[in-house]
Amino acid sequence: MASFFAGRQATLRPHIKTHKCPILAHKQVAAGAVGVTCAKLSEAEVLVQAGLKDILIANQVVAGTKVERLAQLGRHARLAVAVDDPENVHELDRAAQRVGANLRVLVEVDVGMQRCGVPPGPPALKLARKVASASRLRFDGLMGYEGHAVFVGDRDLRLEAVKQAMTQLTDTAAIIRAEGLEVTTVSAGGTGTYDLTGSIPGVTEVQAGSYLLMDARYAKMRLGFRTAITCLATVISTPAQGRAILDVGCKSLTYEFGLPEVLSPPGARLTGLNEEHGYLEYAAHTGPLSIGQRVELIPSHVCTTVNLHDTFCALRGEAVEAIWPIAARGMAC
Ligand SMILES: Cc1ncc(COP(=O)(O)O)c(C=O)c1O
Repeated sequence: MASFFAGRQATLRPHIKTHKCPILAHKQVAAGAVGVTCAKLSEAEVLVQAGLKDILIANQVVAGTKVERLAQLGRHARLAVAVDDPENVHELDRAAQRVGANLRVLVEVDVGMQRCGVPPGPPALKLARKVASASRLRFDGLMGYEGHAVFVGDRDLRLEAVKQAMTQLTDTAAIIRAEGLEVTTVSAGGTGTYDLTGSIPGVTEVQAGSYLLMDARYAKMRLGFRTAITCLATVISTPAQGRAILDVGCKSLTYEFGLPEVLSPPGARLTGLNEEHGYLEYAAHTGPLSIGQRVELIPSHVCTTVNLHDTFCALRGEAVEAIWPIAARGMAC
């Protein structure tokens, strides 16, 4: 991913929601990322504490103590946050004034995902003006995540969806510039669209995150990134020929995008997950499986699975070389 962005107009600002691990974030920055993206204020707090200096919270931070915490954090790092509401702009500015911080702000534009964001064009311009006129906020540019495009399987259709979304974003940037405001940042993109969005003129940074570890859902898109994460389970019971029970359930592996896949032994597949049990079926040529045997699984959704664990075991070959804390796991506020 770093080599794709080397020498391009667009830079890489990887989303850490996928690994929640400051050590990996530092490695991404060392490999060329301009900074990192996160989703939550509490994630940003962990990152700042771990020495990350340039952070985008690609989300709205609203109400009371959270806004206060955001302003405080803004004194310790180059921090940017997304907004899509004028009242929120007010409250961010007031908090920044109180603590003497300066905050960078991106106006979030809904480019078709229908999640957060103001409509493109004049509504975005109006909000950008509001940010620019606030005393302790700096209008830094736009963000428009094309989440509806990242999993479009056909590459041509994906490109079409990206073009439609990014045209709305870059046209909006042009309207704002024409009104005399500087638009430094135009931030978008995910793993499924990194090369498409990253090649659109006017996009300055891409927020892809899942590429680093990958998962079974993204692997199906054959984007060229290998899976770097597996979950090691243990057979705890062998109730019948062709069936085994594992010591992992949905408290260890999530399955909102389907059941995890079995990497080894080949010929085995998961058929269900309870809280603490996984149901494994295997073909005659795979077995018999024995109690204590290890089964290696590929998560179907890496981001929510990682959030269930305290540490990564980092392997080089067969050797565990490091244990990396997933320090931002559970940081949901
Ligand atoms: C705002 C935002 N940016 C970027 C991403 C990219 O993530 P991924 O690399 O998993 O496609 C996401 C994913 O949900 C997101 O919500």
